[in-house]
Amino acid sequence: MKTKLVFATNNAHKLEEVRAILGNDYEVLSLADINLHEDIPETAGTLEGNALQKAQYVKQHFGLDCFADDTGLEVYALNGEPGVYSARYAGEGHDSEANMSKLLLKMNKKRNRKARFRTIVALIQGEDIHLFEGIVNGTIIKERRGEGGFGYDPIFVPEGYSQTLAEIGEEKNKISHRARAIAKLADFLKNKE
Ligand code: IMP
Repeated sequence: MKTKLVFATNNAHKLEEVRAILGNDYEVLSLADINLHEDIPETAGTLEGNALQKAQYVKQHFGLDCFADDTGLEVYALNGEPGVYSARYAGEGHDSEANMSKLLLKMNKKRNRKARFRTIVALIQGEDIHLFEGIVNGTIIKERRGEGGFGYDPIFVPEGYSQTLAEIGEEKNKISHRARAIAKLADFLKNKE
């Protein structure tokens, strides 16, 4: 029988990615699959705290094993901003264009353009809590390039590449911070069997 695990998201793209990595041994349920349609609070102030808060919410309300992710873009010259506030950097509208404009403005005179995307995946299995981290290092360029991806992808060039995350297409799913964190989760689950 397949082991059931809830992934605390309704993002179809993330679900597809995770189901592909975890393969046939796990039945990954979305929040819609368990009839949870309201937003889960994310008030912790760190990626680790928010990921855990989401997984704990599902565990407490539904009694199901669950994992949740939270991601931030951390820019060194801005002391880690926008970080946990990446989605709403320019306000509650979650507007990627406005977020990028704000970041580019703040980076205007900065010489150090190094940044990283960091994803934390929190897993609650029974009584146990496990955290997995995925990082992709890179630089913030001065103007947008590329049509693919989402969020800050058009202004982020990953280390070892000359294209932005919005230009590299499918390759992004192999090297991304999220893919790396999920791969660690998958390794952990497979080694437990
Ligand atoms: P979430 O935790 O996956 O919802 O990500 C929070 C915010 O980080 C998103 O709203 C985006 O602004 C940004 N973000 C997360 N992942 C990516 C990515 O792969 N590329 C670009 N931006 C991202």
